[in-house]
Amino acid sequence: LRQLLFKNPNEPPVVFHWVPFFGSTIVYGIDPYKFFFSCREKYGDVFTFILLGRKTTVCLGTTGNNFILNGKIQNLNAEEIYSPLTTPVFGSDVVYDCPNSKLMEQKKFVKFGLTSDALKSYVRTITDETRDFIKKNAAFKGKKGTVNLSSAMAELTIYTASASLQGKEVRAKFDSTFADLYHYLDMGFSPINFMLPWFPFPHNRKRDYAQKTMTDLYCEIIERRRAAGGKREGDEDMIWNLMSCQYKEGRAPTDKEIAHMMIALLMAGQHSSSSTIAWILLRLASQPEIIEELLQEQKDVLGADLPDLTYDDLARLSLHSQVVKETLRIHTPIHSIMRKVKTPMPVDGTKYTVPTSHVLLASPGVTARSAENFPNPLHWDPHRWDAHKEVEEDDSEKIDYGWGLVSKGTASPYLPFGAGRHRCIGEQFAYVQLQTILVEFVRAFKLRNPDGSREVLVETDYSSLFSRPLNPATIEWVRRDA
Ligand code: HEM
Repeated sequence: LRQLLFKNPNEPPVVFHWVPFFGSTIVYGIDPYKFFFSCREKYGDVFTFILLGRKTTVCLGTTGNNFILNGKIQNLNAEEIYSPLTTPVFGSDVVYDCPNSKLMEQKKFVKFGLTSDALKSYVRTITDETRDFIKKNAAFKGKKGTVNLSSAMAELTIYTASASLQGKEVRAKFDSTFADLYHYLDMGFSPINFMLPWFPFPHNRKRDYAQKTMTDLYCEIIERRRAAGGKREGDEDMIWNLMSCQYKEGRAPTDKEIAHMMIALLMAGQHSSSSTIAWILLRLASQPEIIEELLQEQKDVLGADLPDLTYDDLARLSLHSQVVKETLRIHTPIHSIMRKVKTPMPVDGTKYTVPTSHVLLASPGVTARSAENFPNPLHWDPHRWDAHKEVEEDDSEKIDYGWGLVSKGTASPYLPFGAGRHRCIGEQFAYVQLQTILVEFVRAFKLRNPDGSREVLVETDYSSLFSRPLNPATIEWVRRDA
């Protein structure tokens, strides 16, 4: 009754809830898409729900994506929302623990480091790591077996990303100290930390210990590199790149800032990539004819003897990239993008104004799962991109936020990498990593579901910052050379 009586006609409708503080937290947390689609039926594209005591206004559709992702910096703020969770994990003075202008410069540094030369060298490294993993990992012993993709892909992507982007010293440490430290840091994204990120739970004490120890390890690597005389030809990784960057104010990033940026990249890239490659293999196991098509594509494009992959080959393997693209459409790892409202925001085309007490939430995954944009939206079909090539990002309008020209892109219903000033800078790297791993798996294995069914049997775990397949996510493999 209170919710009906105190309804403000100028504010978006509030999703009905029984329990004051928790509001819709549980239904949202279990399956945000189910929640958004059912709210859209009742209230339309713009509505407010209570998320852990915060009034959270959701704006759906391409208009909603545009409203939030291309919002002006004086109106919308990301760091106030993300920082409590991310700063204890990444460390100080980077990403959301600094003014937005500094983040834009840091993104420019990283983007600058992801040159095509660097990406070229990464294809070789990622191929070698994947082959080594397939050869030596206990999950792939013998001629056939089953593998839990949740753990196996988390392990593989940490090796591939560290060997390439992070550099060989970091990669070597993942055989020993770094693996535990990484897991401790990762606990910083536990669901309870959305509410109490600073509380001295044992997992937060481990997080803080890992943050400090990892920072020290990166700083040691940087000092050792400097002492050994600096960069030599052929040295390509992100640490080298950051060591040679300069802020506009004329100083280089401190070693600690470099360490914290490297941790941020490790965490940002790791979850999104490991969950995506796991979904790719789960999808292939439920539609095994596609993996045969992929093998055929490799033979047709690269040659029947399947030579080692190069960076230039990636663009020619169009079905491989469509597999990645289609998987990111249904299983985009980031289901909710949030901003704090700084000035009252009138919502175009409605009578509503969103007040400064609210948080805004965009979910481009909703437009990517809507039948009006993608017929039969939950059917995974990489071939839908053969016929829908026009549903590319709208790159007609470009804008520079200080880290390179970026497509505004929000006319597109497909935005797995976001849009606007906070848009992802890791897209090319993610594609290189995912496609290269995919190429090796296609060559090595036939895949199927353990019960032979053609459905994906694994549910999505939405409880963390990044969604992923619920553990265990098991498929069956048979070696092609068996
Ligand atoms: C931002 C998705 C891989 C680094 C974002 C955003 C999305 C996204 C949706 C926008 C967040 C927002 O607006 O609040 C993805 C997906 C990936 C991926 C789907 C892989 C499949 C990576 C990788 C890296 C990375 C590999 C690092 C090498 C970043 C950074 C930002 C970002 C630095 C900027 C954050 C900001 O400006 O606030 N990513 N990402 N991402 N991503 Fe990625």
